[in-house]
Amino acid sequence: MKLTDALPGEHAVIYELFGYVGDTAANTNDVQENHGAVSVLERLLLSHAKVEEDLLFPRLEPHRGQMGPLAVMGEEHRRLDDLLKAAKQETDAGALKSVIDQLLELAYGHFRKEDGVLFAMAQPVLDEATLTELGDERAARRKVMVYGQGCLGAA
Ligand SMILES: [Fe+2]
Ligand SMILES: [Fe+2]
Repeated sequence: MKLTDALPGEHAVIYELFGYVGDTAANTNDVQENHGAVSVLERLLLSHAKVEEDLLFPRLEPHRGQMGPLAVMGEEHRRLDDLLKAAKQETDAGALKSVIDQLLELAYGHFRKEDGVLFAMAQPVLDEATLTELGDERAARRKVMVYGQGCLGAA
Protein backbone atom coordinates (compact mmCIF):
# COMPACT_ATOMS: atom_id res chain seq x y z
CA MET A 1 0.00 0.00 0.00
CA LYS A 2 1.27 3.46 -0.88
CA LEU A 3 2.11 5.74 2.03
CA THR A 4 -0.22 8.37 0.57
CA ASP A 5 -3.10 5.85 0.87
CA ALA A 6 -2.11 4.64 4.34
CA LEU A 7 -1.84 8.08 5.98
CA PRO A 8 -5.43 9.15 5.11
CA GLY A 9 -6.49 5.79 6.63
CA GLU A 10 -4.78 6.79 9.87
CA HIS A 11 -6.50 10.17 9.64
CA ALA A 12 -9.91 8.47 9.42
CA VAL A 13 -9.33 6.77 12.77
CA ILE A 14 -7.94 9.90 14.41
CA TYR A 15 -10.92 11.98 13.17
CA GLU A 16 -13.06 9.68 15.36
CA LEU A 17 -10.80 10.43 18.30
CA PHE A 18 -11.10 14.18 17.64
CA GLY A 19 -14.85 13.68 17.97
CA TYR A 20 -14.43 11.83 21.25
CA VAL A 21 -12.13 14.49 22.73
CA GLY A 22 -14.53 17.25 21.60
CA ASP A 23 -17.54 15.42 23.07
CA THR A 24 -15.72 14.87 26.37
CA ALA A 25 -14.83 18.58 26.59
CA ALA A 26 -18.44 19.53 25.77
CA ASN A 27 -20.00 17.10 28.26
CA THR A 28 -17.89 17.32 31.39
CA ASN A 29 -16.05 19.90 33.48
CA ASP A 30 -13.98 17.14 35.05
CA VAL A 31 -10.35 18.14 34.44
CA GLN A 32 -9.01 14.61 34.93
CA GLU A 33 -11.46 13.16 32.44
CA ASN A 34 -10.49 15.76 29.86
CA HIS A 35 -6.80 15.17 30.55
CA GLY A 36 -7.39 11.45 29.99
CA ALA A 37 -8.99 12.08 26.60
CA VAL A 38 -6.17 14.45 25.61
CA SER A 39 -3.54 11.88 26.64
CA VAL A 40 -5.01 9.27 24.28
CA LEU A 41 -5.07 11.85 21.49
CA GLU A 42 -1.49 12.84 22.24
CA ARG A 43 -0.27 9.27 21.98
CA LEU A 44 -1.90 8.73 18.61
CA LEU A 45 -1.22 12.17 17.15
CA LEU A 46 2.48 12.16 18.03
CA SER A 47 3.05 8.70 16.63
CA HIS A 48 1.20 9.70 13.43
CA ALA A 49 3.18 12.94 13.08
CA LYS A 50 6.42 10.99 13.59
CA VAL A 51 5.58 8.65 10.70
CA GLU A 52 4.98 11.71 8.49
CA GLU A 53 8.13 13.48 9.65
CA ASP A 54 10.37 10.41 9.36
CA LEU A 55 9.03 8.88 6.14
CA LEU A 56 7.21 11.48 4.04
CA PHE A 57 8.50 14.99 4.77
CA PRO A 58 12.23 14.26 4.15
CA ARG A 59 11.39 12.77 0.74
CA LEU A 60 9.41 15.88 -0.17
CA GLU A 61 12.03 18.29 1.14
CA PRO A 62 14.13 18.31 -2.09
CA HIS A 63 10.96 19.41 -3.92
CA ARG A 64 10.23 22.16 -1.42
CA GLY A 65 9.92 24.70 -4.28
CA GLN A 66 6.83 22.84 -5.51
CA MET A 67 5.78 21.91 -1.98
CA GLY A 68 4.84 25.18 -0.29
CA PRO A 69 2.52 23.44 2.20
CA LEU A 70 5.41 21.35 3.54
CA ALA A 71 6.82 24.10 5.79
CA VAL A 72 3.31 24.89 7.03
CA MET A 73 2.70 21.22 7.90
CA GLY A 74 5.91 20.99 9.93
CA GLU A 75 5.13 24.24 11.75
CA GLU A 76 1.61 22.99 12.55
CA HIS A 77 3.07 19.80 14.06
CA ARG A 78 5.09 22.02 16.44
CA ARG A 79 2.00 24.06 17.35
CA LEU A 80 -0.07 20.90 17.94
CA ASP A 81 2.68 19.62 20.19
CA ASP A 82 2.65 22.88 22.18
CA LEU A 83 -1.14 22.81 22.55
CA LEU A 84 -1.07 19.17 23.73
CA LYS A 85 1.50 20.11 26.38
CA ALA A 86 -0.53 23.18 27.38
CA ALA A 87 -3.70 21.08 27.71
CA LYS A 88 -1.98 18.52 29.93
CA GLN A 89 -0.66 21.26 32.23
CA GLU A 90 -3.92 23.24 32.45
CA THR A 91 -5.83 22.68 35.70
CA ASP A 92 -8.65 25.20 35.27
CA ALA A 93 -11.69 23.50 33.67
CA GLY A 94 -12.73 26.51 31.56
CA ALA A 95 -9.21 27.29 30.34
CA LEU A 96 -8.67 23.59 29.55
CA LYS A 97 -11.77 23.51 27.34
CA SER A 98 -10.50 26.57 25.51
CA VAL A 99 -7.09 24.92 24.88
CA ILE A 100 -8.86 21.74 23.69
CA ASP A 101 -11.01 23.84 21.30
CA GLN A 102 -7.87 25.47 19.83
CA LEU A 103 -6.15 22.10 19.59
CA LEU A 104 -9.04 20.46 17.75
CA GLU A 105 -9.53 23.41 15.40
CA LEU A 106 -5.86 23.36 14.42
CA ALA A 107 -5.79 19.56 14.16
CA TYR A 108 -8.91 19.34 11.95
CA GLY A 109 -7.54 22.06 9.65
CA HIS A 110 -4.14 20.38 9.52
CA PHE A 111 -5.59 16.98 8.61
CA ARG A 112 -7.82 18.52 5.93
CA LYS A 113 -4.83 20.28 4.33
CA GLU A 114 -2.85 17.06 4.30
CA ASP A 115 -5.78 15.07 2.89
CA GLY A 116 -6.76 17.69 0.34
CA VAL A 117 -3.44 19.22 -0.68
CA LEU A 118 -0.23 17.64 0.63
CA PHE A 119 -0.87 13.98 -0.16
CA ALA A 120 -2.21 14.90 -3.61
CA MET A 121 0.92 16.99 -4.30
CA ALA A 122 3.17 14.15 -3.13
CA GLN A 123 1.77 11.71 -5.70
CA PRO A 124 3.35 13.18 -8.86
CA VAL A 125 6.54 14.17 -6.99
CA LEU A 126 7.32 10.71 -5.61
CA ASP A 127 6.89 7.76 -7.94
CA GLU A 128 4.62 4.80 -7.23
CA ALA A 129 7.49 2.46 -6.27
CA THR A 130 8.84 4.97 -3.72
CA LEU A 131 5.40 5.58 -2.21
CA THR A 132 4.84 1.81 -1.95
CA GLU A 133 8.26 1.28 -0.33
CA LEU A 134 7.47 4.04 2.18
CA GLY A 135 4.06 2.47 2.77
CA ASP A 136 5.79 -0.83 3.57
CA GLU A 137 8.08 0.97 6.04
CA ARG A 138 5.02 2.43 7.75
CA ALA A 139 3.42 -1.03 7.93
CA ALA A 140 6.58 -2.45 9.50
CA ARG A 141 6.63 0.30 12.13
CA ARG A 142 2.97 -0.22 12.91
CA LYS A 143 3.46 -4.01 12.83
CA VAL A 144 0.43 -4.39 10.60
CA MET A 145 -0.35 -7.42 8.48
CA VAL A 146 -0.22 -6.53 4.80
CA TYR A 147 -2.28 -8.97 2.76
CA GLY A 148 -0.02 -11.11 0.58
CA GLN A 149 3.17 -9.91 2.26
CA GLY A 150 3.04 -11.65 5.63
CA CYS A 151 3.27 -9.83 8.92
CA LEU A 152 5.85 -7.12 8.37
CA GLY A 153 7.99 -6.08 11.29
CA ALA A 154 6.62 -8.67 13.68
CA ALA A 155 9.47 -11.16 13.35
FE1 LIG B 1 0.66 16.03 9.88
FE1 LIG C 1 -1.40 13.58 9.09
